[in-house]
Amino acid sequence: MIGLAPPYSTFFDDGRQRFLKFEDAASGLGPSYNATSCGGCHNQPSIGGVGNVAVIRAGVVHNGRYEAPQGGDLVHLFSIGDYSCQPQIPADANNLSHRIPTPLYGAGLIEAIPDSVIRTWEDPTDRNGDGIRGHAALVMDPATHTMRVGRFGWKAQQATLLAFAGEAFRNEMGITNDLFPKEAATGLSAEQLAACDKVPDPEDRADPKTHLRGIDDVTNFMRFLAPVEPLPLTEDRRRGMVLFSHIGCASCHVPELLTGPSEFPALDHKSVNAYSDFLLHDIGTGDGVEQGAAQGNEFRTSPLWGLRFRKRLMHDGSALSPSDAIKQHRNESERSRQSFDHLDTPDRQALLEFLGSL
Ligand code: HEC
Ligand code: HEC
Repeated sequence: MIGLAPPYSTFFDDGRQRFLKFEDAASGLGPSYNATSCGGCHNQPSIGGVGNVAVIRAGVVHNGRYEAPQGGDLVHLFSIGDYSCQPQIPADANNLSHRIPTPLYGAGLIEAIPDSVIRTWEDPTDRNGDGIRGHAALVMDPATHTMRVGRFGWKAQQATLLAFAGEAFRNEMGITNDLFPKEAATGLSAEQLAACDKVPDPEDRADPKTHLRGIDDVTNFMRFLAPVEPLPLTEDRRRGMVLFSHIGCASCHVPELLTGPSEFPALDHKSVNAYSDFLLHDIGTGDGVEQGAAQGNEFRTSPLWGLRFRKRLMHDGSALSPSDAIKQHRNESERSRQSFDHLDTPDRQALLEFLGSL
């Protein structure tokens, strides 16, 4: 937890409990779902981290455009009741993609970065000629109905933790809420969904005592979750850090951004060492899925803080080490990957040492 005084420390504890709560059909779970608690997928190396699951999306790519089937492209793994609402991969789906969870440590700091700070790093027309064309993911915030710079999720599809919480409650557990009031599951009609799940929408109701909804509770937990501190810099790691900038990794994995004003001292004008510009890039790992402002070939620059606690890397978990992940970098990151390939062994080792200290 970041430095917090009461009552916020209580909000954090209550939020953590809600994050861990096992949902069931009576509390709105389903009709179809991927897990029964937020903690089910965000638990390694501690609550708020990552998990072993990968979620599935099935869509149809038609004339170069991605289309989600009726009910959306989420193929839930499980369903309640008699399985009459178990989503199946639709017959005409020709684009199947997998995504692993992202960690939530330091999420409140990421949220507190002003849109304008992220936008200063945009260069969609490559004015500086470095081959990198990052652009901000402009998305609609479902709570305020304003356009904001998305920064959460592999496609930077949400701008705030409340919005992500709302989408996760609905997408991962089938719990509808004020921000995402309609059930979604691939191939299922609204009528089928209504027949399988008898709890009236929105299912996430405010607690009569605290007046907080589930989405507010888990937002408090995530907002106040402390970032992972890097290991101390040794001589090798320091050299690796310099090389990281020198070969252009830091052009996307930006080492430091600043938060704006915040009512919480721990989030107010703080540096955020997430190693990301939170922009969308094409590095040749596209999954075909168009989501929020992201094209099928684009992803948010992955934050690298806390890297040493993760095993699976890249959106689909297809890399099992930082060097595996670097090998997949192409297109906008072609030059920096080539420079990495050309490093001599001690330099490459120093760079990997540095990454392993994050
Ligand atoms: C079935 C597994 C699963 C469950 C359950 C789950 N998540 Fe996630 N979470 C994911 C995956 C996968 C991603 C990456 C999603 C993406 O980009 O599409 C993710 C990403 C996130 C992110 C984005 C963090 C970042 O910086 O990118 C937030 C915030 C989040 N989850 C919050 C929650 C909350 C709150 C709950 C409970 C309501 C929850 N998650 C339940 C799998 C899960
Ligand atoms: C053009 C922008 C760009 C450059 C330059 C770049 N990266 Fe990345 N990096 C990304 C994006 C985007 C992803 C996520 C791609 C995905 O998941 O498919 C990523 C993912 C990663 C990951 C995996 C992180 C995770 O959460 O799974 C590592 C490690 C990484 N990059 C290291 C590096 C290193 C080291 C360099 C320099 C050799 C570098 N990157 C250069 C954009 C970039």
